[in-house]
Parts: sequence; C-alpha cells; structure tokens
Amino acid sequence: MLTTNDYALEIRRLRTVFPGPDGPVPIVHDVSLAVRPGEMLAVVGESGSGKSMTFLSALGLVARPGRVESGQVLVDGLDLVGLAPEALRACRGSVISMIFQDPLSGLNPVFTVGDQLVEVLKAHSKMGRREARAKAISLLDRVQIPDPQRRFDDFPHQFSGGMRQRVLTAMAIAHGPKVLIADEPTTALDVTVQAQVLDLIDALRRDTGMAVVLITHDLGIVARHADRMAVMYAGSVVEQGSVAEVFADPRHPYTISLLRSVPQVEGPVDADLMSIRGQPPLPGSIRQGCPFEARCYLGQGRAVCLQTRPPLEPTDAPQHLSACHFAKVLHAEEALA
Ligand SMILES: Nc1ncnc2c1ncn2[C@@H]1O[C@H](COP(=O)(O)OP(=O)(O)OP(=O)(O)O)[C@@H](O)[C@H]1O
Ligand SMILES: [Mg+2]
Repeated sequence: MLTTNDYALEIRRLRTVFPGPDGPVPIVHDVSLAVRPGEMLAVVGESGSGKSMTFLSALGLVARPGRVESGQVLVDGLDLVGLAPEALRACRGSVISMIFQDPLSGLNPVFTVGDQLVEVLKAHSKMGRREARAKAISLLDRVQIPDPQRRFDDFPHQFSGGMRQRVLTAMAIAHGPKVLIADEPTTALDVTVQAQVLDLIDALRRDTGMAVVLITHDLGIVARHADRMAVMYAGSVVEQGSVAEVFADPRHPYTISLLRSVPQVEGPVDADLMSIRGQPPLPGSIRQGCPFEARCYLGQGRAVCLQTRPPLEPTDAPQHLSACHFAKVLHAEEALA
C-alpha cells in the first residue's frame, strides 16, 4: 500500500461548490486522485465534466462565487487547501505549476518572451537580472527552442503555436516543480507539433522526476503517453487505473462507451472522442443515485442506480478503481456484444 509520501500530488475528496437557487451546487464532487513522481496521469472526460475546475480548485484559483468546500490537496506533504493566500502563491509556480487551457492567458503580446520568462524566474527567487537572463536562455534551450540567445528578444507573435507552447512549458517548469498540470496543452496544435510538445513533456518528466497531470480529450494521446488515467463524469472521478488496465478491462459503463466510440486503440487516433449519446446532467440536478444512470446502457432504471450514488472503490485490482455498482461483474466483452 502506498503512503502519502509516495505521491507527488494527492487530492483527497476535493469538493468545489457554486451557489445555486437551492443552495451550494457541487461542480467538483469529492474528487480523489494521485500521481507519483515521474508519472503521467491523464484526466479525460467530456466537456464540462470538471477537469479544469478540479485543478483550478487544487491551486486555489477558483473564481468567486465558487469556493472549495472541503478536501485536501497534498503536495510534498503540504496541504494546499486552507493555506494563506501568500503561502499558496509561493507554492504555485514553484512546487506545483499549471499550463492553462486558455492560450490567451499564457503570454503577454507586448513583452518579449525573454522578459516574461525573467519575470517568472524573479517571482520566486532573488535572482539578479543577468543571472535570470542566463537561466531563461537555458530554459528556452531546455524546451528545444532553436537559437535561444536570439529568440530571447522576440515577441510572442514571432513564435509559431508550437513554439509558444514550448515557451509556456518553460515558464511552468522554471522553478523545477514537483508537479506540472497541463490542461489541454496541445489542443490548438496540429498533430505533428502536438506530438513534439508531448515528447518534450515526456522527456522533462523522465529527466527531472516531475509528475505530470495531462488533461486531454484525446484517448490516442492517453494511450501513447500516460501511465495512469482518471475518467471524469459530471464532476466526479468514475474510473481510475493504469492506462493498460483501463483500456483492456474498463470497469465503468461510461468508460466503456468512450472506448467503444474509438475504432481501435492502436494506431493513429486523433478525433475528438469524448462524445457519446445523450447529455451529461446539469450541475446540481443529481440529488441521489448514479450521475451516469440516465445514459447508461447497463444500469438504466435499476433501483440501486436510481437510489444510491456509487462510491469510487477498488475493483478486483486494488489500484483500479470504479464508481459503478456493477464494476465487479462488468466485462467489456459482454457489454460490447
Ligand atoms: N464560474 C462558474 N460558475 C458556475 N459554474 C461554472 C463556472 N465555471 C465553470 N462552471 C461549471 O463547472 C463545470 C466544470 O467545468 P470545467 O471547465 O471544469 O469542465 P472541463 O471538464 O474542463 O471541460 P472542457 O473539456 O470543456 O475544458 C461545468 O459544468 C461548468 O458549467
Ligand atoms: Mg477544461
């Protein structure tokens, strides 16, 4: 059994709420996740399932009137939930950092890439300008930007999309974080450039032991790059396990539906795969029972599914978790037949 110290990041029962007409509505619903040093955890799930919100919550970046109601976010033995804003700011960007989904939030068009990188470096350390410049150039080199001395003085618009993503990656790793959260870092890029950026992230985690959480819609990317995966549905993690196990023996009907929409796992898979029949429930509309019940081909109408919300629990394998009442008797082959 792993102890807390074996994880670079451990999120325990994190719950984030927004006010609703009948009281607080959970948007992140008791999410538990963990990632080890050097490992890549992929987080998948259709749009609105709470992937971004989970990690914005973990970093204390939920905009009001949203708030983290309960849970723990352990990084390096420190619980980020409840930290004073100043202490939290000190952790963000140093021990844990995030590449945000919104590409506009990343780089400021009016400053050179080098100046922005220097700012990031000086934010968490007492570096002089000259030292910061040298470090910034070595970071640009680290993320494989050709001719970094010269590119230091270029503005963001002089970089291609893939190169801008590399600059953002350089900023995120500037202080050698233990955990990097990358929220759809390659969605806007073409397939070849996507692969280069992901290969870079893979190289960085291999070389530094940094843990990576990769939020993505693309199951092909998950299959090629991640060690473990968590599947989110309507604000909850519904399945979590090694990529090999979840692909070979999925134990949640939602995961099975997602995988069924993929013609084959081997080979090129680059479509947006997070689409299955029906709509996810609106936040707050599920008062009891399984949030997937209305779309489930298996449990639909069954009393236990209507009445009891299934907890995320180990299947036959201790590290493979599922939140389905029928996880232990669920066999993909039968379901797919
Ligand atoms: N400011 C807000 N107020 C209320 N609800 C919000 C707010 N921001 C996001 N939400 C809701 O939170 C839920 C989760 O959103 P989130 O952005 O985390 O989804 P996601 O899984 O990252 O989706 P995508 O794949 O589209 O990025 C959604 O139902 C969304 O409508
Ligand atoms: Mg998102």
